[in-house]
Amino acid sequence: MRVSGPIAALLASLALGGCAKLTLAWANLDPHGAPASPLALGESANPGPITTVETWESERAPELRAELEREVYGVMPDASSARVISHKTLNEAAFNGKGRLEEYRIEAHVTFNGVTVAAGETEEGSSEHGFLMDVVLPSSASGPVPVILVESFCPRWDTLPDPSIARKEGAWSCEEGGFMTSVMHYAFGRYIATPPVEAILDRGYAIATIFPSEIVPDSKKKGLEELKRLAAGHQDQKTRWGAIAAWGWAFSRMVDVLEDDARFDKNAMIVWGHSRYGKAALVAAAFDNRIDGVIAHQSGTGGASLNREKIGESLKEITSQYPHWFDENYAAYAGHEEEMTVDQHMLLALIAPRPVLLGNARRDVWSDPNGAFRAALGAGPVYELYGSRGLDQARLVPYRPQSDIAFWIRPGTHGVVQEDWPAFLEFLDAHFKHERAAMN
Ligand code: GCU
Repeated sequence: MRVSGPIAALLASLALGGCAKLTLAWANLDPHGAPASPLALGESANPGPITTVETWESERAPELRAELEREVYGVMPDASSARVISHKTLNEAAFNGKGRLEEYRIEAHVTFNGVTVAAGETEEGSSEHGFLMDVVLPSSASGPVPVILVESFCPRWDTLPDPSIARKEGAWSCEEGGFMTSVMHYAFGRYIATPPVEAILDRGYAIATIFPSEIVPDSKKKGLEELKRLAAGHQDQKTRWGAIAAWGWAFSRMVDVLEDDARFDKNAMIVWGHSRYGKAALVAAAFDNRIDGVIAHQSGTGGASLNREKIGESLKEITSQYPHWFDENYAAYAGHEEEMTVDQHMLLALIAPRPVLLGNARRDVWSDPNGAFRAALGAGPVYELYGSRGLDQARLVPYRPQSDIAFWIRPGTHGVVQEDWPAFLEFLDAHFKHERAAMN
C-alpha cells in the first residue's frame, strides 16, 4: 500500500525516542523557578534593566532575535518576497456548504547576502514553480475574517479534505484509511491530520494551509540540501538556517498573500502548529509582528520549553535525530546547555504582547510541559511592560484562555485529540472575537 511508507515514517518520527520512553512520567502541576528576565541582561548601549517598551523594541528585542538566530535557528533571510501566480476557486460549497475553498499558487524568493533564490517545489522535473496554499472561508462571513494559518505533518489535502484539492501525482495521504491511519489516530489523536474544519468555520474562522515539506522537505538529506540551496549567499555554515526557521518564514509568506486580500482580517492572523510546526509557529511570530496570535501545541524542545534544566527531549537527541531543524551552533550546546545565554522564554517574550496559547499534555513529558510553563513565567516581565499579565496563573491548571499567555494542559500524551480544538477555539474567541463583533 502506497501510504504505508510515509505514514510509517511519520509515526516513527512522531513517536521517536521520546514519546514512548516517557509516557509513564507525568508533568508536575507545580513547577517553580522562572528563568532570568529578558529585561535584565543586555549587550546594548543601555545594558541596565530595560524599563520601557521603546528600549525593549529598539534595543533588547533586536539583540535577542540576533542571538536566537545565531545560537538556535540560524540566520533569517535579509529580504523576502511573495507573489500570487494564480488564484482559483475550487469549491464554492465545501464542507457541507459551510465554506468556500480557494487555492493560491505562490512564488516566493529569499535573499541572503545579495543572492536571491526562488523557494518552492523541490521535485526534479516539476515545471511548476512556487507552492500552493489552500484556504477555506466561512460561507456565513460578512466582514473580514480571522484566519488560522496551519502547517502540518500531513499534506494540504489532509488538512482540508475536499476532493477538489488535487493531489500531486503519486502523492500520499495520512487519511487514506486502513490500518496505518487507524494506528495514527489511536496513537496521536483524531485531529492529528485534519482539524475539525466545519466546527472552525461555524465559529467564523477561515483556515489557510500549506504543506511545509513542499518548501523545505522534512528529511535529513533533502531538507539540508534545500536549506543550503535557499541560503546560497550565506557563507557561515554554523549559522545557516534550519528547517524550523524556514517553516516559520513560510508562515510569513502566507501572511504576505492573505494581508493583500480584504476578505481576511489583518488584525487576526493566527499561526497554528503542532510539535515541530509549533516550534515554527513560535519562530514565525517572534520574527514577524504582522502575526497576531499563536497556538503552539506541544512545541517542546526548540519551541516553548527551556533548554536549561531540561526534562524530556535533550538537545543531543533532537539535534542528532533532526540535524536539519536548527543551526550547527545549537547542536554544539548539547551537553553544555547551561552555557547558553539565550533560552526559549526569550522567544516567547519576542511575541509580547500578542496572545499565545501553549498546548500540553500531562504525559507528554518528552515535550516538557514544565519547561514550557517556566518559559511562560520567564516571558512575563516583557508582557508586563506592555501592561499585560502574560501568564496569569501559578500552577499548570486551571486553563485560562483569556490570558495573553494561555497554558492548556490535558491528560494524555502527544497528539491532537478531541478536547484540544474546543480549548483552542475558546482561546481564539477570547482574543479575537470582540474585534470581529466590532467590525461587523
Ligand atoms: C519528535 C521530536 C520532537 C517533535 C516531535 C513532533 O518527537 O523529537 O521534537 O516536536 O517529533 O514533531 O511531533
